[in-house]
Amino acid sequence: MSKSNSAPNLSVVSNAPTDDARDTGFTTAAESELSRKFLEDGHVVVPVEDLGALDRLRDAVAGGATNWLDAKVPEDPGALLDSIHARVGPEKVNDMRMSIINGLNTQSWVARDYFSVARKTIESVVGNELAMQRRLNLSVQMPGDDSSVLPVHADVWDGNSPFEVVLWVPLVGC
Ligand SMILES: [Fe+2]
Repeated sequence: MSKSNSAPNLSVVSNAPTDDARDTGFTTAAESELSRKFLEDGHVVVPVEDLGALDRLRDAVAGGATNWLDAKVPEDPGALLDSIHARVGPEKVNDMRMSIINGLNTQSWVARDYFSVARKTIESVVGNELAMQRRLNLSVQMPGDDSSVLPVHADVWDGNSPFEVVLWVPLVGC
């Protein structure tokens, strides 16, 4: 074997379903279409599958914000989150965010509820042999705050798995 200083060729393997795989009958037409759209666009936007779970997650985030603000428990957690920018400035938003994240991740039920928000969709586009990130994350984007805006990116650029799916769950009505 001769030695070469040139970089080796990389094999790029796609896990996209072949046309044959689509005909096995293991997936419904709707699941196949969702998978096709995900592969074509890189994302899908779908209805929440478990509204109760979404409500619990939103209430837990609102509860975390309430604790951090040292405020009264809100009657309407959604309204609190929708107007949080009126109570927390951009310079403090990361402190609040980290406090909420740490509180959320002490709760044993949050991973289960987070998954149930989009379980069927994730299983359609990825499959059911899954591993989940240990800690949930929270992104807070205040109106007019450009300091929190990330440019368009793919997490794989930072070393995340190319087989990862990111699930964004909306907690405010914006
Ligand atoms: Fe990202």
